[in-house]
Amino acid sequence: MSLRERLAAQIRLGGPLTVAQYMAACLYDPQDGYYAVRPALGAQGDFVTAPGVSQMFGELIGLWAVECWNRMGRPASVRLVEIGPGDGSLMSDLLRAARLSPAFCEAADVWLVEVSEPLRERQRALLGDRLAWARTLEEVPAGAPILLIANEVLDCLPARQLVRADRGWAERMVGLDPEGELVFGLAPTTAIDRDASPGAVLEISAAQQALGAEIGARVVEEGGAALLIDYGRAVPGFGDTLQAIRAHRKEHPLASPGEADLTVHADFPTVLAAAHAQGAAIPQILTRGGFLFRRGIAPPPEALTAARPDRGDEIGRQLERLVAPDQMGELFKAACIHRPGFVPPAFESPS
Ligand SMILES: C[S@@+](CC[C@H](N)C(=O)[O-])C[C@H]1O[C@@H](n2cnc3c(N)ncnc32)[C@H](O)[C@@H]1O
Repeated sequence: MSLRERLAAQIRLGGPLTVAQYMAACLYDPQDGYYAVRPALGAQGDFVTAPGVSQMFGELIGLWAVECWNRMGRPASVRLVEIGPGDGSLMSDLLRAARLSPAFCEAADVWLVEVSEPLRERQRALLGDRLAWARTLEEVPAGAPILLIANEVLDCLPARQLVRADRGWAERMVGLDPEGELVFGLAPTTAIDRDASPGAVLEISAAQQALGAEIGARVVEEGGAALLIDYGRAVPGFGDTLQAIRAHRKEHPLASPGEADLTVHADFPTVLAAAHAQGAAIPQILTRGGFLFRRGIAPPPEALTAARPDRGDEIGRQLERLVAPDQMGELFKAACIHRPGFVPPAFESPS
């Protein structure tokens, strides 16, 4: 039975699903979920992420991690953790740049937190099997400060959608039409008490919030910092951001359950507030372009183009894609969660 058929049977028996339940099934169903079975990153796949645009992205994050470690007083051991490492490119680029500091590489105990078995295989193929893998951050052993990276991961975490209807708030649900096809509907709810104009959509991701709290507690207890980069909102707001992407094209989120990547925007204000509630410091959110500029990316990347004059134009285009406001550089944000008292590079002062 296909995932669509199983979801339809489940709705017939148990009633409509929340958007969060639908997203969780489409992404993580052990038999047919997108990340369980067919995550397709890269130009030939469904979508390209920043490390697929240019190696400069991961390399600058590698230098960020080394500088964090220096500012932390060069601890003898540090957990270098990436959540959602995709095809492993970001970690590969990060480690290449980090090799400039052999002492950091000596201290770094690298952990990859990955739920997708096919992606773990790709990561192993690229990075070798000397690194350590975990399914959750909790599984990464405590006992050392942490430097954590998560790029384009918050947006995979399921969210509910509440809609301000004419007569109050309703929850968007996934039900069945008379022909048995999946269809969006609304169910009245008293879950929130907030003012908004009719038609406004409020997205609530308990999973994003929980990850923010977990990271916050971890950096407070063990020390260190987390860098979260994603497309999303920097201030609380409304909007329907549920999106399905397959083969680089948007499609209706109900069109092909489990076969497309489903995302919502990262809700940075909520993630950071959850971390702050655990005692963590949360400096002002930067745009991704702003973060990369503060870390030294500069048009044109003279040294790189001098080293490879044959690829100067290509490198210029890649850089443009990473930082230009009208491309991905402004919609994407970079946020940091760290132990109070520590000052992470790039997040020293307001932008
Ligand atoms: C859009 S990809 C981004 C990959 C990579 N960070 C990059 O920038 O190319 C999302 C990654 O997060 C992983 N992921 C999704 N949900 C996750 C979860 N709940 N916990 C840990 N990893 C998750 C996916 O398997 C995948 O590796």
